[in-house]
Amino acid sequence: MHEASCARCVVGLNLSGKRLVVFGCGYVGSAVAQAALVAGARVEALTRNPAKAEALRAQGLHKVVVAELASTDWHDQLEAGADFLVNCVSSGGGGVEGYRQCYVAGMESILEWTEKSDAPVGTLVYTSSTSVYPQGEGAVIDETQPAEGATPNGAIIRESEKLLEASLIAACRRWFILRLAGIYGPERHHLLDQLRAGAATLNGSGDYHLNLVQRDDIVKAIFACLVAPEATGSQIFNVADTAPALRGEVVAWLAEKLGRPAPGFDGTTTNRRAGLPMPDRLISSAKIRRTLGWRPDYPDYRAGFEKLLSR
Ligand SMILES: NC(=O)c1ccc[n+]([C@@H]2O[C@H](COP(=O)([O-])OP(=O)(O)OC[C@H]3O[C@@H](n4cnc5c(N)ncnc54)[C@H](OP(=O)(O)O)[C@@H]3O)[C@@H](O)[C@H]2O)c1
Repeated sequence: MHEASCARCVVGLNLSGKRLVVFGCGYVGSAVAQAALVAGARVEALTRNPAKAEALRAQGLHKVVVAELASTDWHDQLEAGADFLVNCVSSGGGGVEGYRQCYVAGMESILEWTEKSDAPVGTLVYTSSTSVYPQGEGAVIDETQPAEGATPNGAIIRESEKLLEASLIAACRRWFILRLAGIYGPERHHLLDQLRAGAATLNGSGDYHLNLVQRDDIVKAIFACLVAPEATGSQIFNVADTAPALRGEVVAWLAEKLGRPAPGFDGTTTNRRAGLPMPDRLISSAKIRRTLGWRPDYPDYRAGFEKLLSR
């Protein structure tokens, strides 16, 4: 993440004297860590990857522990009582077992660590996923919609959310569960890559809505939670841009921008949802906008992709 990009995510925030711990320094987690450094926080992180640990230290993180989140190996290495904790781990594969290890066992380990200490975490933000929702058929999905009965992977993430919802106030003063839509941004734009590569046909269909959110807007949402007034309490928020669009529309728009013919769709399903077709639905982020005043800098796909195309 570029310095300017980080700075934009934390405009006006001064976190000096605050300690933030990041679990899962991947695409989102690394950006959170860098933005927190810009805001003056003491930033610590956990990664399984020694080379990444070195890189994070070189970026200025104050402490980086190399460990598997689901283990207890790190429990004595990170001091309890962090002001802020952000759990951004994501299973990079490994099927259902990989999901369990990363999301459920990972959350259990975090809560065990917080519960055995006298000093609670101030605010814990967990980046969950809109995949916890089972609904399709064009439904508008706000946080009041049931989040049971999704795909097997979505159900595992929901299980990890429930662990956090049941956590003791003595361990974690408050939490936020952010159900993220499909993430895109710098260096992560699969659809654009496919079109740039000249794909004549894309998998799946163009007839369902893409619910997207740009990476920097996620970082802004995370910081909005971390510094939210105490009266906000613990909350679940959907985090998505404000204009879901049909996949076919997005593809046609990108193709036009690239000066290429729009590819067709082969109608197959993908493995992303265990072989199930992508649901058609509109994820509403009205609650976080209303409650925290979060405003995405990239309110629709055009704004986000224009920026990526101009780089
Ligand atoms: N991708 C999407 O479109 C999407 C959509 C909705 C929600 N989300 C959620 O958004 C969050 C951020 O996603 P992302 O794209 O930033 O993920 P990412 O780039 O894949 O990074 C996730 C990081 O988690 C770490 N990790 C995974 N399992 C771990 C474990 N057992 N112990 C320790 N570290 C572990 C990995 O770090 P190390 O290699 O350093 O261990 C990895 O870098 C995740 O919670 C994800 O579930 C993503």
